Amino acid sequence: MPSVVIFGTQWGDEGKGMVIDLYAEKADMIVRYQGGNNAGHTVVVQGEKTILHLIPSGILHPEAVCVIGNGTVIDPAVLLDEIATLREAHCNVDGRLFISDSAHVIMPYHKLLDKCQEQFRGKKRLGTTGRGIGPAYADKADRFAIRLGDMMRPEIFEERLEAVLSYKNAILTQVFNEEPLDFKDVYEQYLGYADQLRPFVADTVPMVHAALAADKRVVFEGAQGCMLDIDHGTFPYVTSSTTLAGGACSGAGVGPQALQTVVGIVKAYTTRVGEGPFPTELHDAIGERLREQGQEFGATTGRPRRCGWLDCVQLRRAIRVNGTTSIFLTKPDVLGGLDTIKICTAYDVDGVRTEEFPTQLCDLAKAQPVFEEMPGWSEDISSCESWDALPANAQAYFKRIERLLGVSIDVLSVGPGRTQTITLRPY
Ligand code: GDP
Ligand code: IMO
Ligand code: MG
Repeated sequence: MPSVVIFGTQWGDEGKGMVIDLYAEKADMIVRYQGGNNAGHTVVVQGEKTILHLIPSGILHPEAVCVIGNGTVIDPAVLLDEIATLREAHCNVDGRLFISDSAHVIMPYHKLLDKCQEQFRGKKRLGTTGRGIGPAYADKADRFAIRLGDMMRPEIFEERLEAVLSYKNAILTQVFNEEPLDFKDVYEQYLGYADQLRPFVADTVPMVHAALAADKRVVFEGAQGCMLDIDHGTFPYVTSSTTLAGGACSGAGVGPQALQTVVGIVKAYTTRVGEGPFPTELHDAIGERLREQGQEFGATTGRPRRCGWLDCVQLRRAIRVNGTTSIFLTKPDVLGGLDTIKICTAYDVDGVRTEEFPTQLCDLAKAQPVFEEMPGWSEDISSCESWDALPANAQAYFKRIERLLGVSIDVLSVGPGRTQTITLRPY
């Protein structure tokens, strides 16, 4: 603190919701800076699970101001549902949730196009979440998009939607053989959303700057993970936004000096949802065991997550491109009971040993992981409260990860609950 960016170092689902909820206890403001409702961030409070898709994971702390920044894409119906669910759970959002008027809106044609494009790709589908994320970000880059600020002004929205919808309908009908969308239906539905969202919509940049200037504690919340980043991920099997810590700058409207501490969340093993290369993936009983023990099923789509060993080649890349200053290690408790734990330290690509993560899909697809083996531990560590209480083999595993990555593990969690963390070095 005062400002910290928290991001996923792998392929998402590292435990960002849990970590951000922990930080939010001491934070004044939480800012989500990219992605949309492709994210599913789980927070567990006294055994009760809340899954957040758009609203920052700090919302359960009543004092924290929550901001959804300009770098996000918003499905208004999902956001309104999330607000309603929180209100039902007696979590007040009024006066403390703000959404950037420059955030882009996910429209019905984005969701339809996401589905059509995946069908068109056939066997080469990406395995998207189907939430319209890619088409919405594509429209942003193409400058065909509608932003929340447009949606708040009926005449501007009408003019913009008319122009964009005629183009989208041409694609839907002529390329994908779909029915056209009716202008009036979409317009009226989204005007209804606009009316409900209006109290939350603002220019959020001055708010974030005012908080930083007043030395308030600001947490920037990443979604997805480094390997799903549009530039540095396993392209094209990625999402469409900048998932890196640096994405907080453009996605929230702050300069790089605002990102003082850069916390990378590392899951103690690796998971991935959707298609794409995954060198350390396990297709055996151990992979199955990690999925069951770790409850590795998508928080957004419910899909089973692919599971594998920790990959330090992939992680070193993530540490580097994010400027990571600190690691928060999650879910080592899931590894308990394994005789041996493997860590990938290098790849063999066409018989050549490399410690660099291949940037080209054709090389990554051929990468054979080189593993180091360590003895596992049989103890259940989920109630350990200190470093000294951890089994020696678990300590050795954590130390080895630190050495391989060159960054210290400052905090680790041993379960999903708020109290199941061990702080090794306080910030
Ligand atoms: P996110 O997308 O990065 O926020 O992660 P998800 O919420 O999609 O998935 C992480 C899952 O792991 C959630 O169900 C969390 O409650 C759970 N979790 C987080 N940290 C730990 C931990 O240290 N141990 C265990 N067993 N579960 C954890
Ligand atoms: P959180 O924030 C894991 C994956 C999808 C797919 C690819 C592209 O919970 O960690 P998209 O719908 O974004 O176009 O899909 O990205 N993906 C995620 N995987 N966690 C996420 O978010 C993800 N968000 C997108 O499965 O492979
Ligand atoms: Mg998730």
